[in-house]
Amino acid sequence: MSLLKRIEQGQAQQDNQSPQRSSSAGAGGSGTSRLSGLNARRVAPPGTAQRDTYRDLKTRVQNKLLAELDPSMDVSQTAEVRRTIEELFENILAEEKIVLSRPERRRLFEQIVAEILGLGPLEPLLADDTITEIMVNGAKNIYIERSGKLYREPASFESDDHLMRIIDRIVAPLGRRIDESSPYVDARLPDGSRVNAVIPPISLVGPVLTIRKFARNPITVEQLIEYGTITPEAIEFLKACVISKINMIISGGTGSGKTTLLNVLSQYIPADERIVTIEDAAELQLRQEHVVSLEKRPPNIEGRGEVTIQNLVVNSLRMRPDRIIVGEIRDSAALDMLQAMNTGHDGSMTTAHSNSPRDTLARIETMTLMAGTELPVRAIREQISSALDLVVHLERLRDGSRKVTHVSEIQGMEGDVITMTDLFVFEQTGFENGRVIGRLRPTGLRPKFMDKIEASGINLPPSIFGVGERRRY
Ligand SMILES: Nc1ncnc2c1ncn2[C@@H]1O[C@H](COP(=O)(O)OP(=O)(O)O)[C@@H](O)[C@H]1O
Ligand SMILES: [Mg+2]
Repeated sequence: MSLLKRIEQGQAQQDNQSPQRSSSAGAGGSGTSRLSGLNARRVAPPGTAQRDTYRDLKTRVQNKLLAELDPSMDVSQTAEVRRTIEELFENILAEEKIVLSRPERRRLFEQIVAEILGLGPLEPLLADDTITEIMVNGAKNIYIERSGKLYREPASFESDDHLMRIIDRIVAPLGRRIDESSPYVDARLPDGSRVNAVIPPISLVGPVLTIRKFARNPITVEQLIEYGTITPEAIEFLKACVISKINMIISGGTGSGKTTLLNVLSQYIPADERIVTIEDAAELQLRQEHVVSLEKRPPNIEGRGEVTIQNLVVNSLRMRPDRIIVGEIRDSAALDMLQAMNTGHDGSMTTAHSNSPRDTLARIETMTLMAGTELPVRAIREQISSALDLVVHLERLRDGSRKVTHVSEIQGMEGDVITMTDLFVFEQTGFENGRVIGRLRPTGLRPKFMDKIEASGINLPPSIFGVGERRRY
C-alpha cells in the first residue's frame, strides 16, 4: 500500500485519523480486507490547500475518496468497483470545484484505481512503455530494463507479504497457484506480459517476480534498422527468403532479440497463406488474418494434462498449415520440426538458443538426439542440412545493443560435416563512447538457393550481396 505511505509521508502534519474505523486490515490476502485496510489508515483531507500542486490535489482527492468508499466492498468485482470509484471521483471533483483538463482527470483517476485494484508499485512500471522488463528480488529491490540496460528502481513494496499478495493477484485469475508445494509459476498479465514468480523456500531473497513486458507497440523493421540491428539490404534479402519459403532458424542468446526479429520477418508471409504458430507463451503478434495460435500447457497439479511443443508440432501437421512457426525450439520437438520442414512444410521458421551459427546446428543435433531416435548422427545431420536453409544469428553486444551478426546459408554435407557459408557478417570497427561501431556486411557470396528466390519472381540486385563491390577495411 505505497499510496498510503505516500499520503502519510506527504502529509505528516495532518494527524486527524478517522476514529471510527477498525484497523483490522493489514496482511490479509482478500481484496475486501485490503480496501478496509486502506480506509482504516486513511488520512483526513487537508483544509484549504493554497498552492495546489498536482500531488496535493491527488492526495486530497484520494483521501476523500477513500473516506467515502464502502470498506466492505468486494474489490474482486473490478468493473463494479471501478464504476463506484468513478462516480465518487466525479462527485468529489464537482464538490470541490476542481477544474481539470480531460487528460489530467483521466490520469488522476487511473492512479487512484491502480492503488485500489491494480498491482501497486508495479502499475507505473507496467504503464511506462520505455521499460521492457521488471525484476523484483524481494520486496525492497526492484530493477528495470530500459533500452537494454538494467537500472535500480527507487520504488519498493511494503513487505514480502505485500509482494506475495500482488503475485497472488496475478496468478489467481489464471487458475494457477503458488505456495510452498509449488513454489514457482509462469503466468501472464491480461495485457500479454509474461510473468514468472519464485517464492521461498526456493528463493532465498524473498519472493522474486520477473515480468517481460508485452510490447504494446512491437518493434518495427524501421526500428531494427534505426537501432543498427540489421541493414536495409539484409532485410530485403530476408524478406525475399520469407516470401520464397526458405526454411530458417533465428538463433542467439537469451534476450538477443530472436522473437522480435521473427515477429518482424513474419509480416512478410503472404496474406493468402494459413499460418499455425506454436509457442511456450504466446508472444508473436502476426498481422495476417489467417493465423491459428497454439500455446503449450504445463501439467496440472496432479501432473496430468500436459501439452508439449512437440505434441503441438505433430498436431499442426493435420491442420493443413502453409507455414508452421514455432516460437522457440528447445527439446525433442526439433526432430518433428525438421521432419515437417522435410515433408513439404517449407517456409517454416523458428528460434533457438545458441552462441554462434555453428553452435545452432550442434544444438539442433543434440535436441534431435533427445527424441531418442535410433538414427545415426550422420543421418541426423543430413536431415538438418536438407531441412534448414538459413541461420540468422543475433547477439546482444556489450553495449546492450542487439545485432544480427551472421546470416549463414546451410549448403549441404561434406563427409560428416554440415557445410555453411556466411552471406552477411557483422564487422566491428571500433568501440566509442561505450558503443559498438560496426556494420553487417555482405560477404560477396550469393546463396545457392537463389533459384528458389528467383522462382518466386523476386530479383535481388547483386549489390545486396556485395557482389562487384570492393570491400573496405
Ligand atoms: N533489435 C533490438 N533492439 C533493441 N531492443 C530489442 C531488439 N530486439 C529485441 N529487443 C528487446 O529485447 C527484449 C528481448 O527480446 P526478445 O526478442 O524477446 O529476445 P529473445 O527471443 O532472443 O529472448 C525485448 O524486451 C525486446 O523489446
Ligand atoms: Mg524469445
